Amino acid sequence: MCGIVGYIGHRDAYPIIIKGLQRLEYRGYDSAGIVLFDGEDTQLSKTKGKVEDLKDKSKATISTKGKLGLGHTRWATHGVPNGVNSHPHYSNSGNLVIIHNGIIENYESIKKALVERGYTFESDTDTEVLINLIEEVKEKEGVKLGKAVQIALNQVIGAYAIAVFDKSKPDEIVVAKLGSPLAIGIGENEYFIASDASPFIEFTNNAVYLEDEEMAIVRLGKEIKLRKIKDDAIAYPNIQELQLNIEEIEKGGYDHFMLKEIYEQPRAILDTYRGRLLANQGIIRMAGIDQNLEKFLNANRIIIVACGTSWHAGLVAEYIFEDLARIPVEVEYASEFRYRNPVITENDVLIAISQSGETADTLAAIKMAKERGAFVFGVCNVVGSSIARETHAGAYTHAGPEIGVASTKAFTTQITVLTLIALKLAKEKGEFTDSKFHELLTQLEGIPAKVEKTLQSNVLIEQIADVYKDSTNCLYLGRGYNFPVALEGALKLKEISYIHAEGYPAAEMKHGPIALIDDQMPVIVIATRKGHYEKVVSNIQEIKSRHGKIIAVVFEGDETVTQLADHIIEVPETSETLSPLLTTIPLQLLSYHIALMRGCNVDQPRNLAKSVTVE
Ligand code: F6R
Repeated sequence: MCGIVGYIGHRDAYPIIIKGLQRLEYRGYDSAGIVLFDGEDTQLSKTKGKVEDLKDKSKATISTKGKLGLGHTRWATHGVPNGVNSHPHYSNSGNLVIIHNGIIENYESIKKALVERGYTFESDTDTEVLINLIEEVKEKEGVKLGKAVQIALNQVIGAYAIAVFDKSKPDEIVVAKLGSPLAIGIGENEYFIASDASPFIEFTNNAVYLEDEEMAIVRLGKEIKLRKIKDDAIAYPNIQELQLNIEEIEKGGYDHFMLKEIYEQPRAILDTYRGRLLANQGIIRMAGIDQNLEKFLNANRIIIVACGTSWHAGLVAEYIFEDLARIPVEVEYASEFRYRNPVITENDVLIAISQSGETADTLAAIKMAKERGAFVFGVCNVVGSSIARETHAGAYTHAGPEIGVASTKAFTTQITVLTLIALKLAKEKGEFTDSKFHELLTQLEGIPAKVEKTLQSNVLIEQIADVYKDSTNCLYLGRGYNFPVALEGALKLKEISYIHAEGYPAAEMKHGPIALIDDQMPVIVIATRKGHYEKVVSNIQEIKSRHGKIIAVVFEGDETVTQLADHIIEVPETSETLSPLLTTIPLQLLSYHIALMRGCNVDQPRNLAKSVTVE
């Protein structure tokens, strides 16, 4: 987690760094800091809180001049969030300055040795240890900054994206990466450094993404030089043209990114299947699958690994793959999978799902599966992300940047991609007739318009939110395809409104959670007319007899549940397989409104970060 930004060039660095940090705040936002260098002196400002707090503090306390700057927005790992632990950090001499995203795991032993040799530390961070190690190497070996960084990094264990400069070299920043992302934007006699391209997109479309174990000397007037940290081999920068545009990363008239992203779903789903789903011709075209069809068709099983919301999308996919394509699927939390010595064979296909493409546990699970011979396929949103690069093949969701910390459009677009894959494999395996295949393709094509219609319930959902905004607990129930939707609804509510919520398969209620139900307990039930409707109706009866409050998400025209529930939210009818793409939407809106009414920071909920790059 944490976001880093750097600038060196002909402009004032301050506004670029501050704006860049605001764009990266999704990565962490418990404290922030900035350093500016005018060629002679550095100005440092750090504070607990958001980038807005840093801005206020900096305006009041430092000169904001300087054509070189580094900034950091933090999600604390080592040391509580406060000004001292915030980055940037100086070395003991005050000559070297660093920002760091990641964790140095062996920092304690390095720190102990440095202390024995006379180094002192102000903060509790691993980062201050790293900058002093670099300083010690530089002085002891009599080498330049780049070499010192390289030698020091060969002594550390952990993950990092760092940017370092030396006050005696005002035209140079040294950067390095292992495990955490780092992009360099290349402008006209200026360079930008950032955790992703969003901080510099209005200045340049050209960027280099560092690979793991690469470092670069970013020097004004010189082309970027890349080196391998381990063996000093020269690496050649692959300059990419960025597709991102500035409108995509602004709020566009909405109060919050989350709301904007919820409303973007019709477009995002359409963009995700555009060019892939050719319903008229009865074709699904996906290069990553087409080129590896045999691997999928001959797979013993598909293992899906992911975290959080992406894991919920994986659960939906399990239902779809097994139901349609008749391929056995196991869905695993990446964090468990990577540490439990799973049985993986060369005949397994592993699908990794990740919006950011940077989630540390998912990345580690991929690496392990590759080492054990599995074919690894990625479903990512962020183009060029670590997971997208690490997998053998993949399919992007074309959701566009997701900035609200709570995942919304990523979830529905992940389900869209996974549905396309399952449909394609089912067709190739001859699991269903042409007419059933065609019918599902046509239904999928109709989803964006149905999501649009579902969004029209926003006002009704806001009214329901008003009734339940003060609840302390909430239960979400669903069955079959909509069980993962219940899990996702509960996750959305707890992460942004801080109300305790649980998702359960509706039938499991009797095995425990039913004890919680009383007249204070809102129970959100997904009760679409397809699937196990009658069973869900029975579950609703059970809740009703215990005076629970029922908010039901149903297909339009529902009569049975409508008579039983306290509140009804209708979504247009579709096939059971595709229903999660619609039933999810009201749950996103419900969480959004409840969180807002409770005065919570919807886009940046406490303790969270969008991209979990630490395990
Ligand atoms: C919840 C949420 C998280 C992420 C999880 C995985 O709203 O956003 O649970 O889904 O951290 O992130 P990615 O998909 O980037 O791997």
